[in-house]
Order: sequence, then structure tokens, then C-alpha cells
Amino acid sequence: MLLQDKVAVLYGAGGDIGGAVARAFGREGARLYLTGHHLAPVEAVAKEVVAAGGSAEAAEVDALDEQAIDTHLQSVTDQAGRLDISFNAVGTKLVYVPLVELDLERFSLPITTHTRSYFLTARQAARRMVPRRSGVIMTVTALHSRTGIPLVGGFGPAQAAKEALTRDLSAELAAQGIRVVGLRPQGIPETRAIRNGFERLAKATGMTWDQFQQQLAGGTHPRRLSTLEELANMAVFMASERASGMIGTTVNLSMGSLDD
Ligand SMILES: NC(=O)c1ccc[n+]([C@@H]2O[C@H](COP(=O)([O-])OP(=O)(O)OC[C@H]3O[C@@H](n4cnc5c(N)ncnc54)[C@H](OP(=O)(O)O)[C@@H]3O)[C@@H](O)[C@H]2O)c1
Repeated sequence: MLLQDKVAVLYGAGGDIGGAVARAFGREGARLYLTGHHLAPVEAVAKEVVAAGGSAEAAEVDALDEQAIDTHLQSVTDQAGRLDISFNAVGTKLVYVPLVELDLERFSLPITTHTRSYFLTARQAARRMVPRRSGVIMTVTALHSRTGIPLVGGFGPAQAAKEALTRDLSAELAAQGIRVVGLRPQGIPETRAIRNGFERLAKATGMTWDQFQQQLAGGTHPRRLSTLEELANMAVFMASERASGMIGTTVNLSMGSLDD
């Protein structure tokens, strides 16, 4: 198994991507400490991991509260002896309002939430990893980091900031044995985020689910969107020692729709 006995903490583990990555890490033998700011969905994922033969504990942690992150990580390292992987899958809902009509608070929300949460969880992880000169810090971004997409408010700047932070963290931490890497997936139709986007458009235009997916997939090479399983498989690989040559970068999982 690629992650046998690796101690992994996930933030936003009750979300669609966090949950899929947790299940995949669990199948590959990781010891999981799953967190979210609402406990019930995180507990549900932990139960699934354990039912499938894996190891997972759930905890309520607000990934914007540095004290809560620190306290939780201390309990993890007290129990497990180390931290090998930190994975931030925290997300916010899209606004679907034109930028010229959007108030500053709603524009800023994804920027402050995504960037602050990634910064806080990454640096708290790094403080535990540096003394052992080993560890992987990971997050998820979206195509919005690299291409203009309408009606998403501050979501694009937030994704671009996280990719810059991945590079900058890596530039400071790689020499101390820490790999910092990201994943940039296409829209994934199984997720509530994509479903919500569809429902909004369907209401306004009468578009069908198939038409919506075709529209989103139109720019990809295979003319299809990616799956949660494809993303989770790449997350496993990137978290594993097989990816030791992947440093300070965000993996382009845009199915060909974005050139490098
Ligand atoms: N879905 C896609 O197709 C897709 C594609 C590309 C990139 N992404 C990116 O992947 C990430 C995850 O997306 P997703 O689809 O899994 O979204 P999601 O299902 O909404 O999951 C996000 C999770 O973050 C949690 N969260 C929000 N604020 C938090 C906080 N302060 N502390 C702890 N947890 C918090 C949410 O909890 P609550 O729900 O309880 O608030 C939720 O469980 C996002 O950054 C998104 O931009 C998604």
C-alpha cells in the first residue's frame, strides 16, 4: 500500500473532495485524523473508512482558527508520534454574482477563507514536520487560478493565491525535507459544488444535466469531466514517496483544458 502507516490530517474532510481523498488514503493504509468545522459529516466519512478496514478518527476543527489547528495537531502527534501528511480541502460556496455588483465582503470571503486556512494549516504542519525533515503538505485548487471564469467573485484570486503559496512554502521548506504540492482538478460532476452550479443554470435556462456537463467538458481533450476517483488516486500518488520528485508544484488535472 502506498501510504502504509502514514499519519495524515485532513481539513474539510466532510466535503466531497476531502471525503474522497480520505477514503483513498484509508484504502492505502494511512492513519487518518479527519477534521471539519461541523463534526457530523466528518464522522460519517471516518465511519466509512473504518468500515472498509482503515484507521480514522474525526474531530471538529475550524481550519481558520490557528489555536484550534495547533491544539488538534498536538493531540495527533502526542498519539501518533509524528505528522506525515497535511491535506487542506476546505472550500466555500460560489456566489454567481457579477463582479461589478458584488459587495466587498462577499468578494473577499473565498480569498480570506481559502488562503488563510491553507496558510494556517500548512505552517502548523510544517512546524511538526521540519524537526523530522519529512512530510508532505497538500491542497486543492481549481482552473480559476489560471483562466477567467465569470460570476465566481473572489474564487479565482483565491485559487491563484493558493498556488502561489504552494510555490512559496516549497521554496522555504523543500530544503528541510518537506514537499509542498497541490492538485488542480477540473469540475467533478459527482460533487455538490458542481450540482449547485447546474441547478442554478437549469432554473435560469432550462438546461439539462447532460447539456451542462457537455458545456463544462467542451474544452477538455476527452470531452468529459474528471471523477472523484481520478482526483483521489492522484492525491494518493502525490502524498506517497513515489512522488518524491514532485516539489513546489500544482498538478494540472484539467483534462487538457488548460495548457501548462
Ligand atoms: N467540486 C469540484 O468539482 C472542484 C473542482 C476543482 C476544485 N475544487 C476545490 O476543492 C476544494 C473542496 O471542494 P469540494 O467540492 O469538496 O467542496 P465542499 O464539498 O463544499 O467541501 C468543502 C469543505 O470545507 C469545509 N469547510 C468550510 N469552511 C471550513 C472551516 N473554516 N474549517 C473547516 N472546514 C471548513 C466545509 O464544511 P461545511 O460544508 O460543513 O461548511 C466542507 O466540508 C475547494 O477548494 C474547491 O474550490 C472543487
